[in-house]
Amino acid sequence: MTGDPRWRDVDAYLDERLLRPDPDLEAVHRENTAAGLPAIDLSSMLGKFLHLLARIAGARRILEIGTLGGYSAIWLARALPPGGRLITLEIDARYAEVAGRNIDRAGLASVVEIRVGPALETLEELIAHGEPFDLIFIDADKPNNAAYVEAVLRVSRPGTVIVVDNVVRGGALLDGSAAEPSTAGSRRLMDLAHDRPELDATVVQTVGVKGYDGMFVAVVEDAEKRRTAR
Ligand code: SAH
Ligand code: DHB
Ligand code: MG
Repeated sequence: MTGDPRWRDVDAYLDERLLRPDPDLEAVHRENTAAGLPAIDLSSMLGKFLHLLARIAGARRILEIGTLGGYSAIWLARALPPGGRLITLEIDARYAEVAGRNIDRAGLASVVEIRVGPALETLEELIAHGEPFDLIFIDADKPNNAAYVEAVLRVSRPGTVIVVDNVVRGGALLDGSAAEPSTAGSRRLMDLAHDRPELDATVVQTVGVKGYDGMFVAVVEDAEKRRTAR
């Protein structure tokens, strides 16, 4: 990754100080590499950030869009209380298979359900089912980010936490002409958050082993209350 080499070195130092050796997560990286999956999972520090966020929110039902090899799913599933559940959506059946093995090895097979298909379609089933999620992590195809947030608002309740990975993209977010579809997707997400009273949001800009990026973090509000409070 490009950028200041201290970003990577500080991440390595923090990993050593703040994390314990973790054979199950190390196995995910090993197995993903062996299976030829791209190394685009979360950094360990951001995986732990999501894990802590889920615990702070007291999340019992978590939804993830974009499973890859299950690295972030494992961080999130470990935050669940007994009886909690994580549903993760993945378009690629081969990635889902690798993830299933990784999640099984981590002892989380009974907690995590992987649903294979284009997320906008698999989301429709969840919306029809109607039970809201407490925390939703979106980390799939970036051009669809605004569409995903619109869709997941229909499986949210006031208080639901919505997190979207990779919205700053090395600063490309500022490119208003946005010929690049992922950047255009990030900007559509910011427009959505600007326009929709039921999204109360921030972006945490991040640097580290994966370069310069940022995470969108929002809490879903009661839209009526938000309108009258302004
Ligand atoms: N959250 C993962 C990384 C996800 S990478 C982690 O940190 O471990 C992005 C994933 O989104 C890839 O596995 C990709 O196949 C998946 N994806 C891309 N388009 C998708 C779509 N339309 N529906 C569901 N998943 C999709
Ligand atoms: C890509 C996707 C991600 O979710 C990420 O965190 C980094 C890179 C990508 O598609 O290149
Ligand atoms: Mg990502």
